[in-house]
Order: sequence, then C-alpha cells, then structure tokens
Amino acid sequence: MSSQIDPTDETWWREAVVYQVYPRSFADGSADGVGDLPGLMARLPYLRELGVDAIWISPWYRSPMADGGYDVADYRDIDPLFGTLRDATTLLDGAHGLGLRVIIDIVPNHCSDRHPWFQAALAAQPGSAERARFHFRPGLGSDGSQPPNDWSSAFGGPAWTRVPTGDGSPGEWYLHLFSAEQPDLNWDHPEVRAEFESILRFWLDRGVDGFRIDVANLLIKDPALPSQAALDADAPSPYADRPEVHEIYRTWRRIADSYQSARIFVGELWVSQESLKRYLRPDELHTAFNFAYLQAPWEAERLRAVINETLATHNSVGAPATWVLGNHDVTRVVTRFGRAESSYAPDGVRVHNAPVDLELGTRRARAAALLYLALPGCAYIYQGEELGLWEVEDIPLELRQDPTLVQSGGADLGRDGCRVPLPWEADEPGFGFGPRGAAAPWLPQPAEWKARAADAQAGDPESVLELYREALRTRKAETSLHVNGLLWIESDAQTIAFTRGTDFACVVNFGSAPIPLPAHESILLSSAPTAHGLLEPDTAAWLRLG
Ligand code: GLC
Repeated sequence: MSSQIDPTDETWWREAVVYQVYPRSFADGSADGVGDLPGLMARLPYLRELGVDAIWISPWYRSPMADGGYDVADYRDIDPLFGTLRDATTLLDGAHGLGLRVIIDIVPNHCSDRHPWFQAALAAQPGSAERARFHFRPGLGSDGSQPPNDWSSAFGGPAWTRVPTGDGSPGEWYLHLFSAEQPDLNWDHPEVRAEFESILRFWLDRGVDGFRIDVANLLIKDPALPSQAALDADAPSPYADRPEVHEIYRTWRRIADSYQSARIFVGELWVSQESLKRYLRPDELHTAFNFAYLQAPWEAERLRAVINETLATHNSVGAPATWVLGNHDVTRVVTRFGRAESSYAPDGVRVHNAPVDLELGTRRARAAALLYLALPGCAYIYQGEELGLWEVEDIPLELRQDPTLVQSGGADLGRDGCRVPLPWEADEPGFGFGPRGAAAPWLPQPAEWKARAADAQAGDPESVLELYREALRTRKAETSLHVNGLLWIESDAQTIAFTRGTDFACVVNFGSAPIPLPAHESILLSSAPTAHGLLEPDTAAWLRLG
C-alpha cells in the first residue's frame, strides 16, 4: 500500500471509501473527556490499517457547541475543545503522509449566534446593513408578537426568534431553520457569498481535499418568505431546493477546480432523485450522500429498487453513486436492522426505544457491510460502524446534549445515541477513549461495549472489525470491483445477487431459509460461516466466479 496521497490521481473520489469522524466522540488526546484533533492524529494509523481512502471530519471550527459544532462562530479557526489551527495543519500533513485524504465540513446555511456578523446584527438597527446578512423581519399582529411566517425549525418549534430592541422592548424576529443559536445567513447578499468563497480558499490553501456541505439544499429562500399555509400543496418549498442554489455550487466548483489535484464536494442533500441530479451536474457537486439508501429497510426488494434508482440517477449525469449506512444524525445500523420496522424514521419520525434484537441487528449489519461495499461508487463508514456499535438508547435525559430533545419538547430524544465516544481498549477506563487518568467520556458508554472495543476485536477473524478490514482489502485488490456498473443475477424476491466485472459476485440472503450459492470458484468473504454451498439467512457472500 502506498503511503502519501498521489496528487496526480484526479479520480480518487469516484470510488473512495470515506470514514466519517465526529471529532467529539472519536478519540480524546487532551484528557478532558471530549475527542479532539490530537486524539484523532494518534489514531490515524488505525484508519490506515482499516483501509479507508479518506476521512470526513464533522465541524472542527470555533463554536459554542449549541449543535455539536454545526453552529460556527469562526470558520477560520479550530475550537479550543478540539485543538488549534496548528493541530489541523499537523493532522492534514499526517493524514496525507499515510495516504489518507481529508474532507472537512462546511456549514453555509447558518452560523452561530456568537459569530461576529450576528453579534453586529443584534447591536444594529432594523433595516441596517448588518441585519441584511441574515433574515430579520418584523413580527405579525398589531404588536409584532407573532412570527413573520409559519415555518418550523428542523429541531421542533418555530423557525423564528424575537430579539430585543436597543431599549429592551421586543423588536424584530430572525430566521433559523435549526436551533435559535443557528441564524440563517442571507445568501442573496453578496458579502455572504464572497465570505464563503474566501473560507473555501482558506482551507483549500491549507491542503484539504474536499468539503462536505451541510444542508446543501437550504441556502436560498424565497425572498417573500411566504407562509407555507398560504401556498398550494404542490408549490415548491419556499426554503428548500430553490433553483438559484445551483449558481452557488457552480462558483464553488470553479474554485475547487482551480486547485491542483482533485478537491471535491459531497452534498448533504435530503432531496428527491430528480432534484439530486441537478446538484450532480458536471459543473456542480462531485457527489452527494445517498439518503434513499440510508433510509431503506432490510428488505431485498426495497434495496434492489433503491440501488437501481440510484444508479440510473447517477449514470444520467456521470456522477459516482455513494452508499451510506449511517452518520451522526441517524440511528446506528445495528439497532435499526435489529428492529421489526427497519427503515429509518418511518412516517418521518425517528424511532426511539422500539424492541431491538442486537444479535440479529449485528448479523444483518455484517451482511449489509458486504452488500454496500460491493456496489459501484463511493462508500461512507460512520465511525464505530466498523466496530458493530449499536445506538445507545438509555442515556439519561439530563446527560443528553442534542438540542433536538429540548426543542421538540421531549418528543424526539435526539441524536446523542449514535454519538457516544468510541471504545478503543477493552480493559481501560472509558475504554481508552482518552489517556489514563482522563475525565470520563462526555457521554456514558455501555458496559457491553467492552467486547466491541477495537483492541478486543483486532485479530479476531469473527469480529466486525476484521470483516471490515478484510472487505476493504478485497475491495481494493479485486479488479472487477473497479469496473463500472453491476449486472443483476436472476434470483428470488428474498435475494440480492449481482456480478461486477468478469469474475466477482455478491449474494445476500434476506429470507428465512438457507439458499444455494450460484456456481463459483471460491468464496472470497462471507458475513457468516457458509457450508455445503448454502448461504444462511441474513448473510452475504463475495464470490470469485470461474
Ligand atoms: C446537518 C447536520 C446536523 C446538523 C444540521 C444543522 O443535518 O448533519 O448534524 O444538526 O445540519 O447544521
């Protein structure tokens, strides 16, 4: 395996395996119980050994952490909780030296209420230049006590908060599609555009290989800010997926393309396939997360349909597909697939505390790993997925930190359950999340994670970790896995089976009885033991064809 990234490789992002690091929860180097950049730096060899090509780091910027860092107060500095700008440079060099590319999060829809621009807006008058960078409006009703429109925050409650005037009496309202600590920026303002172009350059100059764009479809709002109730049912959303957003990404693409070696974008786009295509046009974003796949239940028919749809969408614009099982916002896959209803957020509501069979979930998550890593395109691994970690559902309410809990009035317990600090060493306090003597991890880890600690799994051929390592090694080595597209093998409704290239097949059994494997020369890898040419239920196999 080569060390050092190859700067002449312009297409690395077309089939990369990208590992998501949620920095608070990855590894603690400073002993304060919170993950940080020195902690991540020390664990880079683990990621190299795992066999990923790149890491995506969730926001590391200076932030009051009202939303885990997705509330940025300074886009050109690292939060002291995570380290320093020098640590970031050291990390970029260290990762590149190990052949790992680095994608960072950019959060353009909103900033923190502590950002100097918003502080200036609060201090300024209605109608001022300072307020024009945000969406400030007078309230409705004779005393302005009603929000300017009926939009809701994604975390629950109204998307508007009222601010006092200079004399302390209630004044204008400002828009926040997320928490009140995350005021939305006004992307019709040229200074906002110029500022983000400059921020992109700041980090590109420091060597980042790409950006994950937070809520990439929300930046542009209908300037009239109309109430949704006033719109026809089939009218376009006044704040999501507005056509003018594409011009922003065309400009960003030109900036990225002006740098040597491919610098890329991956969009967080919870949109339909039809509109996804527009973001993936050759002069816009390189890739986007496949949320259709991430939300699909453990059912052959649904997954086959999503795979077909995904490939058709991406082929039509020449973009590589991505395959995703989890991230820092959604229920961990072991838990999701261990439930009777295994789609993510059926009826649009995140599920909490439904009965779960973790053994079954683990078995399915192993099979799911072999399925998604065999599909053509990029794959994302959310930290801890390679350890088979499950959603921690019993975190006491008072320890939970996700603003969703409070803003939804307790209706949604929030996303802390997938953000619990990783277990590295089975026999150390805090499972080695921090150095000896460190403060306890910022969220409690289940005692049962001892068996899923990285060092407990390393070298155990039956562990989830070794399955991922072996799968990533095989994925790299198999010529057929670098060929575009796949061909379905005719199979029953409970099976997914396809070939890649000339001599590789992946078969997954979703049914309740063993199925015979198609003719093959050898079994390269399987998610559970196979015998007598049979594939057990909830099992996947990679085959070498004769
Ligand atoms: C994205 C992030 C999420 C964050 C939200 C607001 O959805 O993934 O964690 O809360 O944007 O920035």
